Amino acid sequence: MKTFNIAALAGDGIGPEVMREAAKVLRVAEKKFGFTLNITEAPVGWAGIDAAGKALPDATLALCKKSDAILFGSVGLPDRDPTIPKEERPERAALLRIRKEFGLFANLRPVKLPKALAHACPLAKERQGDGIDILVVRELTGGMYFGQPKKTEDIGGGNFRATDTMVYTTPEIERIAHVAFKEAQKIRRKKVTSIDKANVLENGILWREVVTRVGKNYPDVTLEHMFVDNAAMQLVLRPTQFDVMLCENMFGDILSDEAAALGGSLGMLPSASLGATIGDPSMDFEKTFGLYEPAGGTAPDIAGKNLANPIAQILSAAMMLQHSFGQTVAAIAIENAVAKAIEAGNRTGDIFNPNESNTRKVGTREMGDAIASAV
Ligand code: IPM
Ligand code: MG
Repeated sequence: MKTFNIAALAGDGIGPEVMREAAKVLRVAEKKFGFTLNITEAPVGWAGIDAAGKALPDATLALCKKSDAILFGSVGLPDRDPTIPKEERPERAALLRIRKEFGLFANLRPVKLPKALAHACPLAKERQGDGIDILVVRELTGGMYFGQPKKTEDIGGGNFRATDTMVYTTPEIERIAHVAFKEAQKIRRKKVTSIDKANVLENGILWREVVTRVGKNYPDVTLEHMFVDNAAMQLVLRPTQFDVMLCENMFGDILSDEAAALGGSLGMLPSASLGATIGDPSMDFEKTFGLYEPAGGTAPDIAGKNLANPIAQILSAAMMLQHSFGQTVAAIAIENAVAKAIEAGNRTGDIFNPNESNTRKVGTREMGDAIASAV
């Protein structure tokens, strides 16, 4: 029987409680689809600092290195973060470090607005068309997040100068562009909208040139370029025009949150952060190492109250089965189970609308149970 090793890093805030539900669903999938999952938990974020003095304890990193994939919760606590130096805070010291350490340059964020949740979309019905279905492909290890220099200098008189550097090389743009075009070729609408700021930024000009060149290898995919400001507007005016949105790191961070709101709730948005084998046709795509995490944060205000929506974490686990373990059938079964649980009227607070008939407000655990039993 196939065995896969998972490093489960639940982290802070709502991380542990949504992770529990994802594990519950994975256990059902494991029995039903005939593979074995070794799930090993390890602390990260503030949980890591409290347990071992570091946001990414050495033992946690070592576990990740010998695992087939990382299932990640969320890290960072706004109340505690400012109490330690910025380089040691969970976002930078754990999450960004893992992304860089494992070369996870390709971040996939699929946004889908299920028909049953049309009410949870902030846009008027007529703007939702036949439903919203967007895949944000975000470059994850370059751009302003990692560019050097990155520093704050004292320039005297009580003033400071903060510098972040936006930098991209041709190969970095090429490899993420290949990912976007390949995703567009799958069961999608074969359109890539590449986002840049080519009217102002050097990075934007290079981005546009390189993406255009890569696009020539994919004649069946329509390529369109759009300035990022316009893209932010088009997302709310006519979201149905988008299929795959190809973004550099920072633009993708921003636009994926905006897109998530269109999909009903940030609590519904899963993500896959994939490493180098993806985009290389000679490698087995299904075995790509990846980190899978919900795109929303730690939500400390609702943590530990059985209020969080576990769907983003559960769908992230499904993406893991698909991209890292090649278990497409099980992944689709989990996606369908999520759809069924929603159709059956289960709603966590973020997607609950008192005017909707035949629905009930449920907690994190109850939503997890509903999905697990529908797998
Ligand atoms: C995301 C998050 C992270 C990011 C934070 C937590 C560092 O917002 O994954 O979108 O900015 O990449
Ligand atoms: Mg973000």
